[in-house]
Amino acid sequence: MDKYVIEGGARLSGTVRAGGAKNSVLKLMAAAIMAEGDSRIHNVPDIADVRTMMEVLRYIGLSVDFSGGTLDISPAENPRLEAPYNLVQKMRASVEVLGPLVSRYGRARVAMPGGCNIGARQIDMHLKGLGQMGARIAVSHGYVESEANTLYGTRIYLDFASMGATENLMMAAVLAKGTTVIENAAKEPEVSDLAEFLSKMGATISGAGTSIITIKGVDSLKGGVEHTAVGDRIEAGTYLLAGAVARGQVTVTGLDPAFLEIVVEKLREAGCRLDLGPDSMTISVPDGVRGVEISTLPYPGFPTDLQPQTLTLLATAEGTSFVTENIFDNRFMVVDELNRLGADIKTKDHHAIIRGVPSLSGAPVTSTDLRAGAALVLAGLVAGGSTEVYDIQHIDRGYERFEEKLSSLGAKIKRVSVD
Ligand code: EPU
Repeated sequence: MDKYVIEGGARLSGTVRAGGAKNSVLKLMAAAIMAEGDSRIHNVPDIADVRTMMEVLRYIGLSVDFSGGTLDISPAENPRLEAPYNLVQKMRASVEVLGPLVSRYGRARVAMPGGCNIGARQIDMHLKGLGQMGARIAVSHGYVESEANTLYGTRIYLDFASMGATENLMMAAVLAKGTTVIENAAKEPEVSDLAEFLSKMGATISGAGTSIITIKGVDSLKGGVEHTAVGDRIEAGTYLLAGAVARGQVTVTGLDPAFLEIVVEKLREAGCRLDLGPDSMTISVPDGVRGVEISTLPYPGFPTDLQPQTLTLLATAEGTSFVTENIFDNRFMVVDELNRLGADIKTKDHHAIIRGVPSLSGAPVTSTDLRAGAALVLAGLVAGGSTEVYDIQHIDRGYERFEEKLSSLGAKIKRVSVD
């Protein structure tokens, strides 16, 4: 187990490139299960969650090779139609193999994901949608078992624009008989990226990126497809926020700034300056940071995955800020840790009131999840003295070479092993 040790106060400046989106790549990997031949995915970050999804695919029987940011995946000869508990427990996105396995092979057994540090995170909409397509579903002994000789296209209305349910059902529908229409679908760029990959394999999908996705089933999906994953808007946003937190000047490349439109707008409202190019965003803080009001919402709303890092920024803003978390029911776990660093944040239900303080002071703190961990590292960049961030295995799940990229911007951060 490692920890980060950060010396606060270093000026941040320079350029950093965001890698491929974790939350796209994991689903592209699940989609490769359905290809009749090989798949090649570029712009893949070397992060723990990708390694876990590689284990899931290998468990099923696919061959997976990962080098130089490219994944080569070959189909399974005698697939084992299962995602076991030890892998699902490590990473909930493992349940994304359910739709692909049932639609391609007619059967799947996937461990039910349990509780999670950021909220309940049920998969009821995934299961309901598959049931509407004709799959038999049983939950017993901690596993979902699903079976269908044929899946049939149908109209599926999602009660909430869930990204995971949209993607699982879109993948299942690709090989179903007839047309499936997913209404109130998630509109995230990662959903569009998955649709693009599936379309290259021969799927017929329209409307991805809008709230109504229409999928006409086809008999099979071909192999031999190459795809470059879309850039990671959350990683990019984290580095922009790092620049703002440290009152430095940071340029982030590797993705279309349109993916962060509302974040850019809110940062400008908070007093940051943002200069946007076709593939780059530069943040600076000419006149200090002011408090703002933010509510997280499904895309194109303010992303929940940047909420904790934004709390860090607002902790030292001038005035009071209000943050409402609408996606997850337990995503203020970072607040107590930020308060240990001297922040003044109070929460009630899914609201947080942040009273800006002039400075933070370094202390040992603990990550509870990926984005909370990133938020604490950002706080360490400005906290006076030394901050130690423990349990950084959470950060390793989603940020490639985090300390290296931050160091390249001038941060004083070291990874140290904890005995
Ligand atoms: N939900 C249900 N039932 C369902 C599905 C979802 O009640 O069947 C609820 C969840 O409990 C949650 C909300 O709907 O309260 C949103 O869940 P969603 O399905 O949209 O999230 P997800 O697909 O499980 C992905 C990302 C998350 C990101 C969310 C929201 C991946 C692997 N994960 O999760 O990423 O926060 O969408 O954008 O794509 C992260 O990267 O740190 C992370 C948590």
